[in-house]
Amino acid sequence: MGSALKRLSESIKKPASLYSFKITFPVIEEMVTLDNDRLENDIRDAGHAKFIYTAAECFRTRWDMHLVYPSFAEAAETAIDIARRHSLSKLTTQDGEPDPIPWRVKESWGLIYGKGEQGRIHAHWPATWAYTYCIYACDKCAPLIFDQMIQPEHVPSYGTPIQFKPKTGQMLIFPAWLNHHVEKQECDHDRIKLAGNIDTNFDFDKPWQHDTHMLDKAYVDRKEWTTGLEFP
Ligand SMILES: [Fe+2]
Repeated sequence: MGSALKRLSESIKKPASLYSFKITFPVIEEMVTLDNDRLENDIRDAGHAKFIYTAAECFRTRWDMHLVYPSFAEAAETAIDIARRHSLSKLTTQDGEPDPIPWRVKESWGLIYGKGEQGRIHAHWPATWAYTYCIYACDKCAPLIFDQMIQPEHVPSYGTPIQFKPKTGQMLIFPAWLNHHVEKQECDHDRIKLAGNIDTNFDFDKPWQHDTHMLDKAYVDRKEWTTGLEFP
């Protein structure tokens, strides 16, 4: 076996080491106005996609709702707008000019949690941001919990994660790799939500980002530059 291939097979066999980092992440909560009646109707219209595997053990729709229903497209636009306003860093071009990050929603879906239903622990990696919007819930409905969250100043016992109580009109945006789950719904009525994933939508076909001729060009440029040099 070639040594590169051998190294590759060894690296596949070896599990990655895991480390803990002391780092904070934002969870953005905003109250927004969307057409909740329309969203609920569209979720019921789309129906339960029972053959789709998800962590949500409840009624959940297809994953491309923003491409099918304008109400979901509007929710996606609203989430992207919030993500834009809470950018974790600013990009610039090589000339130092602002280079806006292109965002897009890759998936979005509707969820209805009836009594006794819940969402198992999961994350939304490799998306950048995940969002969830509350179409209908009361203040006793099951909370959303980030399992790795430690906020001692906000909770009575150290290490207890904050519970995000759902509120009708609440949009939550969070880094998509954070583990979270939904507690069991104890209310008799439905807890209705939508969720989605926001990814970067860079155009890798732009010549300066990913041009297959780039290497040839660089070589020619370098050759011209090199031949311009005078050697003793
Ligand atoms: Fe989720």
